[in-house]
Amino acid sequence: MIGVLLLLFLPFLLYIAAPQIRKMLSSGVCTSTVQLPGKVAVVTGANTGIGKETAKELAKRGARVYLACRDVQKGELVAREIQTMTGNQEVLARKLDLADTKSIRTFAEGFLAEEKHLHILINNAGVMMCPYSKTADGFEMHMGVNHLGHFLLTHLLLEKLKESAPSRVVNVSSLAHHLGRIHFHNLQGEKFYNAGLAYCHSKLANILFTKELARRLKGSGITAYSVHPGTVNSDLVRHSSVMRFFWRLFSFFFKTPQQGAQTSLYCALTEGLEILNGNHFSDCHVAWVSAQARNETVARRLWDVSCDLLGIPVD
Ligand SMILES: *[C@@H]1O[C@H](CO)[C@@H](O)[C@H](O)[C@H]1NC(C)=O
Ligand SMILES: *[C@@H]1O[C@H](CO)[C@@H](O)[C@H](O)[C@H]1NC(C)=O
Repeated sequence: MIGVLLLLFLPFLLYIAAPQIRKMLSSGVCTSTVQLPGKVAVVTGANTGIGKETAKELAKRGARVYLACRDVQKGELVAREIQTMTGNQEVLARKLDLADTKSIRTFAEGFLAEEKHLHILINNAGVMMCPYSKTADGFEMHMGVNHLGHFLLTHLLLEKLKESAPSRVVNVSSLAHHLGRIHFHNLQGEKFYNAGLAYCHSKLANILFTKELARRLKGSGITAYSVHPGTVNSDLVRHSSVMRFFWRLFSFFFKTPQQGAQTSLYCALTEGLEILNGNHFSDCHVAWVSAQARNETVARRLWDVSCDLLGIPVD
């Protein structure tokens, strides 16, 4: 009898307690009051979810913000929405398809031609759990978009970041990196493929790259951080119906995109964070990463392999 009652009431209790639980799970707020007049920021995947919230906050603080989006029409709508909300007219949508190196190069050329500076680059866009598919250049989709696309983008914008120092690069990774491994013999999933793991591998690649980039850029005035945004209610799961189902079922526990943006903002804005260059953050604190993610040998090799794949001269 009690069991039945409990069963009946449990969902109800959970529902009542959800705001409390969500609050517990979403500690970590960016409290920096830094304002950004005259600063320039690029946010990839900025037309929805965490990217949009991040862009909005940067705009609110006075930065000129580029929304780099695959669907530039959606990007334009969001740009207008942010302009209206923040009163900042300097919010611009630009086309960027990270699944196509041509599009990345076109975006970078356009940006470099029209802008003198770049102070904040937020590599936020990502795909999760897509069925096996390839980018325009034949890379596996997760590795191609989440890792190689952002690698090329960062590389093409690096000089501008250097000239604008102190500048920052923030990479949105994930707790999921703990399950990731870099299989150099199967980097494009050609021998075996699992959509969930492919996401984890690409997120591990993000952290390894942040570390390697931070190591290489020491003393340049650019610092790099990777971020776990938390489990956020976003469209990231659009590719998997199973994930969409679970997401919806548990969605009241998840962070809102605005809460999910806090750690990216923390890393982009907090004064004096430079001493933590290369670190991984979660809930606005330095967070532990897996042993794989701390392996410098793997980080260096992945760097070289990525340069090779993208036709970037290895130094
Ligand atoms: C972000 O991740 C990409 C892809 O892994 C990498 O190429 C880039 O160097 C990283 N940037 C930073 C600042 O970590
Ligand atoms: C780094 O990874 C390589 C290859 O997986 C492994 O052989 C090596 O022992 C690892 N090094 C550390 C310090 O974990």
